[in-house]
Amino acid sequence: MADDRCRAESPPAAPYGPGRTVRCFRPGQDPPRAPETPPVTVPVTLPVPAESPAAERAVVSVRGVTKRFRSAGGSRRTAVDEVSFELRAGEALGLVGESGSGKSTTARMVLAEFAPDAGDVLLDGEAWSGLRERDRRPRRARIQLVDQDPLSSFDPRFTVQRIIGEALPRGFTGDRGRRRVAGLLGDVGLGPEILDRLPAQLSGGQRQRVAIARALAPGPEVLVCDEPVSALDVTVQAQILALLARLRRGSGLSLLFISHDVGVVRQVCDRVAVMKDGALVEIGDVETVLRAPRAPYTRALLSAVPRLAVGRRTAVPIPVPDMDLKGPT
Ligand SMILES: Nc1ncnc2c1ncn2[C@@H]1O[C@H](COP(=O)(O)OP(=O)(O)O)[C@@H](O)[C@H]1O
Ligand SMILES: [Mg+2]
Repeated sequence: MADDRCRAESPPAAPYGPGRTVRCFRPGQDPPRAPETPPVTVPVTLPVPAESPAAERAVVSVRGVTKRFRSAGGSRRTAVDEVSFELRAGEALGLVGESGSGKSTTARMVLAEFAPDAGDVLLDGEAWSGLRERDRRPRRARIQLVDQDPLSSFDPRFTVQRIIGEALPRGFTGDRGRRRVAGLLGDVGLGPEILDRLPAQLSGGQRQRVAIARALAPGPEVLVCDEPVSALDVTVQAQILALLARLRRGSGLSLLFISHDVGVVRQVCDRVAVMKDGALVEIGDVETVLRAPRAPYTRALLSAVPRLAVGRRTAVPIPVPDMDLKGPT
């Protein structure tokens, strides 16, 4: 901003760069336009924006995966149809679509729970879906799942200590293991008083936090979250989403975050991929896709979520986590 002084007086000349002077009362703060020099030719190739190569590294590469299931009548139905995308190091990629669009089947192939009928999945650029299970097993720690009710698959007599402790890498036994479990509980906003509880003695929010702690126990690079908050009420949902966002920031974890709810995806993800009838119809930066969806299906999906019609990412407040320590949620 120009001072009135500038109009009334001529400033003294001051050094400004090698061999140059400038007349300005505030040469350091408010640099004037460059002194007259011949026009500079703008290089044709502009420098790439400040993204390190590491940020673009694909941790998971899904390459044209297809999965067909045999229906009760014996016919084959395509659940996932030549789907391709990459999950980059440290990013949260949302996978959104209505129920039955093939999201969980895609997740299962990313986790190599079953093999695609066509295409393949790479982990850190190396074979993953194509490996024999015995070659894959030592690397399974790298990619972990959190789903809608992950503790339901555990023996109801297992304590929290055991559920998380079992997932620790070898070597974490005895006191060392107990300390590590307590540390993981702390990471997900739970206190050690919960260690001896059984799943049935936990609130929904606490169960999901324990499940996240268990998924983190082996030290994964990738967390696949398949509808991780769909069974929770809205307040607890927001706490779990905030927890996932915080964990990701703190650890460089990459998230493949699956939800039928665009609003939920928006709170966590950098990019979003939209699935319909087994196919990927759109993928891009979350705000871009939600603001200007290209696929008609994405527009339809968005119109079903009225609160997204206006406002930006901050429209949905996210309460701070660690609030459900006391009472059941
Ligand atoms: N194990 C299975 N056997 C037969 N059909 C299946 C199986 N798993 C999924 N499907 C079918 O595949 C399609 C995609 O399902 P899914 O991946 O679970 O979708 P989403 O997670 O998006 O709701 C659906 O039509 C579903 O009925
Ligand atoms: Mg599903």
